[in-house]
Amino acid sequence: MHCPGSTEWSRSGSGSMASKCFLLGFVLLCSLWTVCFCNQDDTGFGFLSLSCGGTTGYVDASNISWVSDGAYISSGKTTSIDYIEGTSSSNSPLRFFPDDKSPKCYKLPVKKNLSFSMVLVRARFVYKNYDGLGKPPVFSVSLGTAITSTVNLTGNDPWIEEFVWPVNYKDTLSFCLHSVPHGGSPVISSLEVRPLPRGAYRTGMRDFPNKSLRKVYRINSGYNESLRYPLDPYDRIWDADQSYTPFHVSSGFNFILGFNLSSVIESPPPAVLQTARVLARTDVLTYYLPLDALGDYYIILYFAGIVPASPSFDVLVNGDLVQSNYHVKMSEASALHLTQKGIENLNITLKSISFYPQINAIEVYEIVDIPLEASSTTVSALQVIQQSTGLDLGWEDDPCSPTMWEHIGCEGSIVTSLVLADINLRSISPTFGDLLDLKTLDLHNTSLAGEIQNLGSLQHLEKLNLSFNQLTSFGTELENLVSLQILDLQNNSLDGIVPDDLGELEDLHLLNLENNKLQGTVPQSLNRESLEVRTSGNLCLSFSTLSCNDVSSNPSIETPQVTIFTKKKPDKNTHMAIMLGAIGGTLLALIVISLSVLLYMRRERTEITYSESAVDMRNWNAARIFSYKEIKAATNNFKEVIGRGSFGSVYLGKLSDGKLVAVKVRFDKSQLGADSFINEVYLLSQVRHQNLVCLEGFCHESKQQILVYEYLPGGSLADQLYGPNSQKVSLSWVRRLKIAVDAAKGLDYLHNASDPRIIHRDVKCSNILLDKEMNAKVCDFGLSKQVMQADATHVTTVVKGTAGYLDPEYYSTQQLTEKSDVYSFGVVLLELICGREPLRRSGTPDSFNLVLWAKPYLQAGAFEIVDENLKGTFDVESMRKAAIVAVRSVERDASQRPTIAEVLAELKEAYSIQLSFLASFDM
Ligand SMILES: *[C@@H]1O[C@H](CO)[C@@H](O)[C@H](O)[C@H]1NC(C)=O
Ligand SMILES: *[C@@H]1O[C@H](CO)[C@@H](O)[C@H](O)[C@H]1NC(C)=O
Ligand SMILES: *[C@@H]1O[C@H](CO)[C@@H](O)[C@H](O)[C@H]1NC(C)=O
Ligand SMILES: *[C@@H]1O[C@H](CO)[C@@H](O)[C@H](O)[C@H]1NC(C)=O
Ligand SMILES: *[C@@H]1O[C@H](CO)[C@@H](O)[C@H](O)[C@H]1NC(C)=O
Ligand SMILES: *[C@@H]1O[C@H](CO)[C@@H](O)[C@H](O)[C@H]1NC(C)=O
Ligand SMILES: *[C@@H]1O[C@H](CO)[C@@H](O)[C@H](O)[C@H]1NC(C)=O
Repeated sequence: MHCPGSTEWSRSGSGSMASKCFLLGFVLLCSLWTVCFCNQDDTGFGFLSLSCGGTTGYVDASNISWVSDGAYISSGKTTSIDYIEGTSSSNSPLRFFPDDKSPKCYKLPVKKNLSFSMVLVRARFVYKNYDGLGKPPVFSVSLGTAITSTVNLTGNDPWIEEFVWPVNYKDTLSFCLHSVPHGGSPVISSLEVRPLPRGAYRTGMRDFPNKSLRKVYRINSGYNESLRYPLDPYDRIWDADQSYTPFHVSSGFNFILGFNLSSVIESPPPAVLQTARVLARTDVLTYYLPLDALGDYYIILYFAGIVPASPSFDVLVNGDLVQSNYHVKMSEASALHLTQKGIENLNITLKSISFYPQINAIEVYEIVDIPLEASSTTVSALQVIQQSTGLDLGWEDDPCSPTMWEHIGCEGSIVTSLVLADINLRSISPTFGDLLDLKTLDLHNTSLAGEIQNLGSLQHLEKLNLSFNQLTSFGTELENLVSLQILDLQNNSLDGIVPDDLGELEDLHLLNLENNKLQGTVPQSLNRESLEVRTSGNLCLSFSTLSCNDVSSNPSIETPQVTIFTKKKPDKNTHMAIMLGAIGGTLLALIVISLSVLLYMRRERTEITYSESAVDMRNWNAARIFSYKEIKAATNNFKEVIGRGSFGSVYLGKLSDGKLVAVKVRFDKSQLGADSFINEVYLLSQVRHQNLVCLEGFCHESKQQILVYEYLPGGSLADQLYGPNSQKVSLSWVRRLKIAVDAAKGLDYLHNASDPRIIHRDVKCSNILLDKEMNAKVCDFGLSKQVMQADATHVTTVVKGTAGYLDPEYYSTQQLTEKSDVYSFGVVLLELICGREPLRRSGTPDSFNLVLWAKPYLQAGAFEIVDENLKGTFDVESMRKAAIVAVRSVERDASQRPTIAEVLAELKEAYSIQLSFLASFDM
């Protein structure tokens, strides 16, 4: 037969990559975050100053503009108080939270600055008996995933908390107030966010990665008043120091001399460094600083050579020498960064060696742990689940920290249990399969119907409760749940016989099958002492024929009973014999017969699409039918495996005319397997395009499902990008664009030129194959769907596809359109640009999901995430075009995505721009 384009096929079978159904995440997470960015006011760059409970904005004495907090929080009530502070009386608004249920979180926009940096978050809490009850509240506060501190307004009113927080890729940072039992209503007066100098507050923190800092002291030595913006452009508040150091040591020193600040990354303001405490009478200078709690602390000591001398001294912290003979050079500023583990008090002592000891400023921070965030895959899967329930479960931010979401259980940052009972889920969506670490999954009474599916990846699952639903079939995946101990399927509509595979679950010790429509013998593989099987309330279900006489197995008897089976001899009778033998009355026999007929009819219904027999396939115009013998001969008895996929292995073959072929032997003999086999043969026999892989023929004999394709020696795009013999380095930008253009042409043909239209449904790198000249062809139509009515806008279908490429909208609505292929193709484009897989488990959790990770960078035109191998070789405009179309293709909202024809047009342009860019070098 004639295949357009080249005549070879691939080294890799479809689905050879990414077949493991793990990690699936969506754009959802990002889109749920309210991004309302800091309008930069005239004051400090990126400052955000919220007047909590305030209704109008104003500019304060330090020339900082304050705005109402209304846009950043949706809960709480507002009021205001009059109180006297220092010499001035003020009328201050505040926000309080009498309801202890609702979330009390501010979503603070943090300057999205694509790499690591720090922000300062300062909150001020004032009670001043605003409610007239005279009961100052106690509550805790959290920042991001970390519970940072307890606020107790009894002793200190106002109370100020200040944090130095490492900003990651995210746009918002949650600042939350949490009620404590009998603590009263949390209250807050102001909240400030200030960006800090890049790289500041990390020096010497190697032993403490991923920590936040909670301010304890910030002292401007030798100065008697507090100082902040605009003198400190970062608006840190530097306190006067009289109260901290014994009064006798010295008076403040104020000697103005220029000095070089460049070596101090924290950039303390010159106004702070211009003053110092210099010891003139004795040679030991001490700051004694009591701490709030036993903990780990980060200390920065600032020195500036503001006197015309070069003093040197030893630095001791709590009696330990931390720096000997420290020199302060004239006209230079320097800093000492120290960490102290497990201390309760701080005694900083400088012992003179030459001249007098001196110090200009001190900062002391408590080191606060930031719990790891749950993986973005988990979070997005849970968000999709929340969406599918149609309820607002209050699932926001992180499922595990600072507090666990309702219905969720965690171990550390890992979600290990999910209990969603008594709601309307209808089906077990593939999302559940992404919660890879689940140990407990309880979906009882959630209106689940159909087959038990999409759970096969949950290798750690120990307890699965699907009781009180309308499930009708065991499905094929339960046997994969290798850790399962308790399986509760009672009160469903499971019919037929109990699958033998369940016996493979070695840890299973309770299997509850009560009140279903099961019949026949329970497989002997389940007849073991360690396992309790409950079977009452079924049609006729037992380990032996005998108990079928037992009235308790009559379905009309409602009371569930516990039947504990112990070892019995294997029973060889067929199910039919058991059934007929056991049923005494004709009535029951009739019921069973009509039930079987019903069952049979149902099965018939599901098979309407394609007939399974090869005879019918003969009518399909193109593909040649091979005999199993021919296939065996062609593949030299299946000698050389060139690929392995979820649906089977691919072998190299040589036809009698010498033509090389790729032979895909499918092992999935399930109904789904057969359907998709026939589907693929059928579709591939109909479509012909140079960018679609060509089917040479097939074999469908005695349960064999074998497909014979043209052989493409270039392998799949996935092999090229990530395989052991990856050609990533030589895969230049222009080549990648060419591949993208080719594949888009193939898809464009499916969507727009073929009749009926075809939705591929499994577009991914491993389904894009390359010939010797690196022409790309799309393959694997096992999941493809035809859109029969010319005007149909979508097809409703059970969600199938590959993790990482699946359109989130299709996923949540189950409505399939061509735009789902566009989404998957967008993911392929992102892979070509970034040179990485759509899902991965290494790196930061934020980078697990390619779409979530790459989108903000590419949208911002930040090409530092472009594949290292492409650096410096691409035309920026060409990259920009491709990046924009890739990002648009993975829009969550399908209607916002371009059509494949538009994608193709954009890619062609990007390709030609890159070609002329390259040509300009040749000249
Ligand atoms: C406050 O800011 C405005 C504009 O940003 C500036 O014109 C004014 O001089 C500032 N005032 C003080 C006291 O710094
Ligand atoms: C980060 O933000 C600062 C100001 O806050 C800005 O000057 C700098 O250019 C930004 N860096 C990047 C990489 O965006
Ligand atoms: C709050 O502080 C007061 C005194 O400062 C103390 O008596 C009280 O026990 C504290 N409350 C809590 C819950 O720690
Ligand atoms: C700080 O010292 C200066 C001069 O030494 C004095 O004028 C000022 O009043 C002092 N401020 C306070 C708050 O003591
Ligand atoms: C400031 O100090 C740095 C090193 O600490 C040095 O490289 C730089 O030249 C100095 N600048 C001036 C103006 O002295
Ligand atoms: C602080 O440490 C110094 C030197 O170790 C010691 O002499 C001094 O007594 C200490 N002061 C306090 C208050 O602990
Ligand atoms: C710190 O965070 C990075 C990335 O976010 C992560 O790779 C690393 O494992 C974390 N380290 C610790 C000790 O948690």
